[in-house]
Amino acid sequence: MANRKYIVGNWKMNGLRAQLSDIAAIAAIAANNEGADVGICPPATLIAAAAEANPGFAIGAQDCHFAESGAHTGCLSAAMLKEAGATYSILGHSERRADQQEGDAEVKAKAEAVHATDMGAIICVGETEEERDAGQAIEIVTIQLARSFPSGASADWLTIAYEPVWAIGTGRVPAASDVEEMHAAIRVKLGELMGQGSDDVRILYGGSMNGGNAAELLAIPNVDGGLVGGASLTAAKFGPIIEAAASS
Ligand code: PGA
Repeated sequence: MANRKYIVGNWKMNGLRAQLSDIAAIAAIAANNEGADVGICPPATLIAAAAEANPGFAIGAQDCHFAESGAHTGCLSAAMLKEAGATYSILGHSERRADQQEGDAEVKAKAEAVHATDMGAIICVGETEEERDAGQAIEIVTIQLARSFPSGASADWLTIAYEPVWAIGTGRVPAASDVEEMHAAIRVKLGELMGQGSDDVRILYGGSMNGGNAAELLAIPNVDGGLVGGASLTAAKFGPIIEAAASS
């Protein structure tokens, strides 16, 4: 795959205005590493300030409602996020699938809403430890992908993130051979789902990626980048991942 690497920091429910300086430092490192595409998805409360302070740096959202507007207390529409300065959104993260009971159909609708607003989407898929132990990982993930897959998908706006649930925030990373097998299976499924152009859709790996393992993970075939949680919160931790991506 000749895809340019794409590294996205998912700040989850972390970050107050004091942490805007970390985003500025990360944006500066990204500007010095033009070989990779880099972005940060801060909490929604920081999107506008982060986008205004770092023009040209890709600020994203962590979720988006599928409706354009209406009676959805506490939710944010794609137009709202875009106006705040987000150019893309993570969708269907396993924490939201678990905590907010988001299902595949909802994730698909969210991706279509984001696209309708001219934003990018990063759709997350991944198996639990029980599913992997039962030998069902590939089946579960490819079904999740098919059911979450938006209509009109193209590599211009769609990215997939494979995040084994048991690797998120645990310090545990799957064997390189398992990552390779899963990313290859996702690539085949993308071909079935969208035909032409599927090779250009970037497939990120997520789950305990850090400065020590990034180069190895990013060298695996069909691993086109990373979705990074804990190790994206400071420039000191995220910088080495960006550098590994830019030189891989
Ligand atoms: P982690 O999180 O890097 O802290 O494991 C990744 C994610 O959930 O996107």
